[in-house]
Order: sequence, then structure tokens, then C-alpha cells
Amino acid sequence: MGDVKKTLSSLPTVSPQTREFPFSSADFERVRKLIYDHAGIALSPAKQDMVYSRLARRLRACGDTSFGQYLVRLERDKKEWETFINSLTTNLTSFFREAHHFDILAEQMKRVTDKHVFRIWCCAASTGEEPYSLAITACETFSSLNPPVQILASDIDTSVLAQGEAGCYRRDRVDRIPPGQVSRYFTHAASDGDQYTVRPELRRLITFRCINLLSPSWSAQGPFDAIFCRNVMIYFDKPTQYGILKRFMPLLRPDGQFYAGHSESFLHAADLLRSRGRTVYVRMDAPQR
Ligand SMILES: C[S@@+](CC[C@H](N)C(=O)[O-])C[C@H]1O[C@@H](n2cnc3c(N)ncnc32)[C@H](O)[C@@H]1O
Repeated sequence: MGDVKKTLSSLPTVSPQTREFPFSSADFERVRKLIYDHAGIALSPAKQDMVYSRLARRLRACGDTSFGQYLVRLERDKKEWETFINSLTTNLTSFFREAHHFDILAEQMKRVTDKHVFRIWCCAASTGEEPYSLAITACETFSSLNPPVQILASDIDTSVLAQGEAGCYRRDRVDRIPPGQVSRYFTHAASDGDQYTVRPELRRLITFRCINLLSPSWSAQGPFDAIFCRNVMIYFDKPTQYGILKRFMPLLRPDGQFYAGHSESFLHAADLLRSRGRTVYVRMDAPQR
């Protein structure tokens, strides 16, 4: 529990000659279209081996003998459809990834002068390390285990959400967190082996929910002070990114901040948002500071 579920390179590739199931270009194109239409994920042709590796396991588990048979199954088996989507997402994450954002967030929280609850939407939360890092930042900023902060943590992938909800991480995952904070925010008994579990106070700040950013309606209601949307837009093409950004901006408070991943730039959406520092953006109509 709590492992990075899969990264682009975490599964061995299988050369076409040694493949257990035939996987034609037409099969790949069908998979590519399904995941693009449903999740917005644009798989390049270079991902063919990765797709084979991830889905061959599913064929085996379902007892199918060809991709054609498996793809027909997907049309009528809702549960397998969910597993199919989960298999094709990439969930690389870590605690306090891109650490400068957490300092900027702490400054943003300190600026709030009225008494409103500071609301954050972490919309590609993966296995939970990111929303728990946000919750730790909130507790540290307010010097309280009960800060006036609410975090909505969502993802399309139901299996990573379940890991986030469980809040159990191996020692090597929590290594990046300063030891003082590990003991403040995690429980660890000798009988737990190398498992660390987030304290219930931290867990209570977060609501986990399945939300597909491509779906026409989101069960996420603004206004949010901060939207963390990091390292997910890279999987979408520019028109998809633009459509999602257009829906995000009205959900932000006028002075709310949008946090993006290190390799994501939104020059093509300059009419929607403007930069306020390293991969932090605000709405076009945000007050100047
Ligand atoms: C690489 S991880 C990034 C995790 C975290 N934000 C970080 O930066 O460490 C990308 C996450 O986006 C999720 N994702 C992919 N497509 C999505 C979609 N259409 N809607 C919501 N989440 C999606 C994946 O399931 C995955 O957990």
C-alpha cells in the first residue's frame, strides 16, 4: 500500500516477437481512441509497448485470448472499464514534490485576513502524497492540527484514490519529510514494520473523490483559494488543456492561485490566466499585487 502505483518505466516492455497475445496497430489505435475520448490522455505511438504490458495482465486476468475479445468485454463490463482506465494512467508522485509550491502556498494562507475556510482542490491527487503534503503545510502554517483548511483530493483512478484514503506509506516514501513532521503527522508502531500511517487529524482535512477532468460536470464546487493541477495536463493535448483551464478559472477566488507542474506552460491560454511566479498562475482578472 502507498507505493507509487506505476510510472512510465515501471513495467518491462515486451518485444513484439515474444508477446503472449497478438497486438496489432489497429488494436493499439482502438485503445488509444478509448483512453483519449474518456480521459483526455493522448498516448503517442511510442507508448505501444507500455500499453501492451499494462493490458496483457488484464487479458490474462479476464481469461481473454485476444485484444479484440478484451475490447468487446470492455463495452459491457463496467468494473473492467474502471480497471482499464486505472491500468493506463501514470501515477508518479511523492511527498513535497516541487517543494517551492508549498512555501508559496504557506505565504498565500498567511495573507488571508478574513475568516473564510481556505479551500484547496488537488485535482490529480494520485496515491495521496500531494494532498497530505498540502495538509501538513496547512497544519504547520497555522501551528494547529485543526487549521481552517479543507482539501478536495480527486483523481480519475479509483485504485490510487483508495491508497490515498488508506493513508499508509512505506518508510522510503516518507523519507523526504523532515523527521519532526513524520512524528507529528504519522503513526508508526514497532509492529507496523516499515509502514507509516497518517494521523486521523490530517486525514480529516481531506475529502477523496473520483473526478474525471474530462467529464462535462465536476462534483467540485468553488470557490477555491488554490487549485493544484500538477503533472496531469502533460498527458492532454492543447485544446483539452484549454477547455479544462477555462472551466477551472471561474472556480478560483479572484485572488486564488493555480499551481501547475514544472513542465507545464500555458502560453496558449494567455487569455485565461497569467503567471505569478514559477509555475503559479492567477486568473486574468486577478487584482495586481
Ligand atoms: C503523474 S500523476 C501526478 C500526481 C501529482 N499531481 C503530482 O504532481 O505528484 C498524474 C495523475 O493524473 C491522473 N489523471 C489522468 N487523467 C486524468 C483525468 N482525465 N482526470 C483526473 N485525473 C487524471 C492520473 O490518474 C494520475 O494519478
